[in-house]
Amino acid sequence: MATKKLWGGRFSGKVDPIMEKFNNSLVFDRRMWAVDLAGSMAYAKAICLAGIISEAERDELLSGLLKVKAEWAEDTFVVKDGDEDIHTANERRLTEIIGPTGGKLHTGRSRNDQVATDVRLYLREETRRLQSLLVELLHTMTSLAREHLPLLMAGFTHLQPAQPIRFSHWVMSHAAALLRDLQRLVDQEQRINVLPLGSGALAGHAFGIDREFLRQELGFAGVSLNSLDAVCDRDFIAEFLSWAALTTVHLSQVAEDLIIYNYTKQVGLSDAYSTGSSLMPQKKNPDALELLRGKAGRALGAATGFLATLKGLPRSYNKDLQEDKEPLFDTIDTMVAVLQITTGVFATLTPNKEALAAQLVPEMLATDLAEYLVRKGVPFRETHHISGAAVKLAEERGVPLSSLTAGDLQALHPCFGEDVAEEVWSYEKSVERKNAPGGTAMASVRAQIDAVESYVTAL
Ligand code: ARG
Repeated sequence: MATKKLWGGRFSGKVDPIMEKFNNSLVFDRRMWAVDLAGSMAYAKAICLAGIISEAERDELLSGLLKVKAEWAEDTFVVKDGDEDIHTANERRLTEIIGPTGGKLHTGRSRNDQVATDVRLYLREETRRLQSLLVELLHTMTSLAREHLPLLMAGFTHLQPAQPIRFSHWVMSHAAALLRDLQRLVDQEQRINVLPLGSGALAGHAFGIDREFLRQELGFAGVSLNSLDAVCDRDFIAEFLSWAALTTVHLSQVAEDLIIYNYTKQVGLSDAYSTGSSLMPQKKNPDALELLRGKAGRALGAATGFLATLKGLPRSYNKDLQEDKEPLFDTIDTMVAVLQITTGVFATLTPNKEALAAQLVPEMLATDLAEYLVRKGVPFRETHHISGAAVKLAEERGVPLSSLTAGDLQALHPCFGEDVAEEVWSYEKSVERKNAPGGTAMASVRAQIDAVESYVTAL
């Protein structure tokens, strides 16, 4: 027996089976079953308050909806032909269970305001989960930074040895970017957390529904302003996908640094996040990091693709909007995975003191040599030149910069004193002089750790 379509009234011809499949979203939107039912329960109460159904009918609807919920929860819900999306599937099953009263639930409601409500409820939950995963990641990073607070390493610009820094400062540099990601994610919630239900198909609700009641029932912070906009507003999805794209870009930068530091043995990666080669027995590959780096392409694609879907759409609901779910769900799954993996990577990362120290070379103190003279009153532009001459001299002699004698340096400028060796050729002193907020001195890094921790703890 052919199953009746919920919207079948005006149709006489059959739908092409290929069209049936093309149109079907249940394969992916079934994951919204719980929020779809929650929305329907709130709606059943609201239409009762509006006098559309009696209290007995409301209770019938509510108990039926609970039964449908139990079927999904126990994985016994049987999908039938004609269940084109989660909304039609749930309503079809409700009516099977409770009979014709089931047909009253959709009064004044459209799948247009229903789906918009469902996706917002769904993303609200997932956003909160992602917030806590990001918080966990940041905690792991601040712990690592605290544990190795004094450890020195070479800092790079243009992938060239630049100046000595602390390992903890490097960790916190990535934490700073991820903290902004967390703040952006938190900020988005206010735009996700708006109720579209009660907008009808596009024009509004004709039965005097109490949208404020619906808002409270579903825990939304606000009610959408305009029904035409409410049924097609997917800005919150575009915003989330853009957030994910930027966050995965940041994680790809973490990954790239670690791939380099792993290659130079400055850090050790746990076996838990590496894999071997099927052919070369000696290999231990940083696959977790390469996947983290690679996932950014996927997230960027989802964000760009979905913006392209939205571009030029006429008001109000159009089926193009069904294309919001696959990129959204895929991106949520990707974000859950990358945040967990990054947390695992940082939790098990071991900085290698010897290899980190081996990257420190006296030439990285050339700026400190110039700044020594600045402290003696010589203008920086001049000192930069003099230090450059010292680098050149050491290079010509084929010796490290630090082996130039006080006499060699005095020949370049009379202000160089006997204390150069002690003051300049010390990585530790170089680092401790960078004690302005944000810098690599121990106290500055500690303040950065405290700032991140206090934001995260207050959340
Ligand atoms: N499955 C649809 C979607 O995801 C639900 C809304 C359908 N609305 C409609 N008028 N056909 O967008």
